Amino acid sequence: FSDMLVDSFGRMHTYLRISLTERCNLRCQYCMPSEGVDLTPSPQLLAPNEIVRLASLFVASGVNKIRLTGGEPTIRKDIEEICSQLSNLKGLEKLAMTTNGIVLAKKLPKLKESGLTSINISLDTLVPAKFEFLTRRKGFERVMESIHAAVECGYNPVKVNCVVMRGLNDEEMCDFVELTRDRPINVRFIEFMPFDGNVWNVKKLVPYAEMLDRVVKQFPSLERIQDHPTETAKNFKIDGHVGTVSFITSMTEHFCAGCNRLRLLADGNFKVCLFGPSEVSLRDPLRNGADENELREIIGAAVKRKKASHAGMFDLAKTANRPMIHIGG
Ligand code: GTP
Ligand code: 5AD
Ligand code: SF4
Repeated sequence: FSDMLVDSFGRMHTYLRISLTERCNLRCQYCMPSEGVDLTPSPQLLAPNEIVRLASLFVASGVNKIRLTGGEPTIRKDIEEICSQLSNLKGLEKLAMTTNGIVLAKKLPKLKESGLTSINISLDTLVPAKFEFLTRRKGFERVMESIHAAVECGYNPVKVNCVVMRGLNDEEMCDFVELTRDRPINVRFIEFMPFDGNVWNVKKLVPYAEMLDRVVKQFPSLERIQDHPTETAKNFKIDGHVGTVSFITSMTEHFCAGCNRLRLLADGNFKVCLFGPSEVSLRDPLRNGADENELREIIGAAVKRKKASHAGMFDLAKTANRPMIHIGG
């Protein structure tokens, strides 16, 4: 395991999230402003061979899990090819994807063949009209179809990410829990986080304690189960349910002490924390002919600058960052 991936707090970064595109086929309110965002001109985006080259350097240094994000990763025409190349990297154990599920169903068999091991699908409401409001697009039925298709395809569990926002979907939590009754689905309720352009407001945040309360009232057998120390989620089971329920408590109980995550953005910037403006380009040195050792040095120095935790709920909203669509979560 390379020292490059160990930060000054001893955290080992074995999980790389790669944003494959800044584009998306939805326009979710919590992710981007209605006017959209500035897109990086395509020559400045990483080419597939650059993505694979950087990923292989990370995997050779000890990264064992890669998650593909966006924007929306499935809108890339070469997504299967990228998956194939990444899944062949020696030492990689998990190749995961976080997707909105709009065009996933038809791509699933090929993605599975290409080595995609895990799928997280974002869905924030079970009411079609609300879906259209939250995402500024149609497509609820297609996402549901993708969730079921992923289960059919053997993904277990299929994780469903639900960002809970007061007054928008907080009344639907128990309906989401119902999805776990007969299927290997892990529903994950996520605290609403602030990003540039998403008009975050503490009033819209439903704290973990309150979410838990709501679910326990309806499902009294809810019981905490083991989670991995590096996991984002706190996991629970319910008697008689095939699937499970989790909470991602980034705001009220951050999990930074166990953080193992690094991020490579579509423009080749390297980001050691989801929050804060600190980024360093890997694309530029790569294109200027840097060798492996020079790249390792740049990456290692950025990892060593990583802070112990994010700035705290209220300071986060004031800290410069990118819009979520550029970071991929
Ligand atoms: P698994 O690998 O299946 O556990 O997924 P994940 O939680 O790592 O990734 P996913 O893309 O499904 O993200 C779920 C939620 O967790 C999103 O709201 C992400 O923004 C958030 N999240 C992911 N990584 C981090 C992180 O490092 N810090 C914080 N604060 N939130 C994160
Ligand atoms: N707060 C919390 N989670 C968010 N996501 C996107 N924007 C936010 C936000 N503001 C989630 C998406 C997706 C994951 C990558 O991040 O729902 O599932
Ligand atoms: Fe890691 Fe930063 Fe997320 Fe904390 S906020 S868990 S340090 S990426």
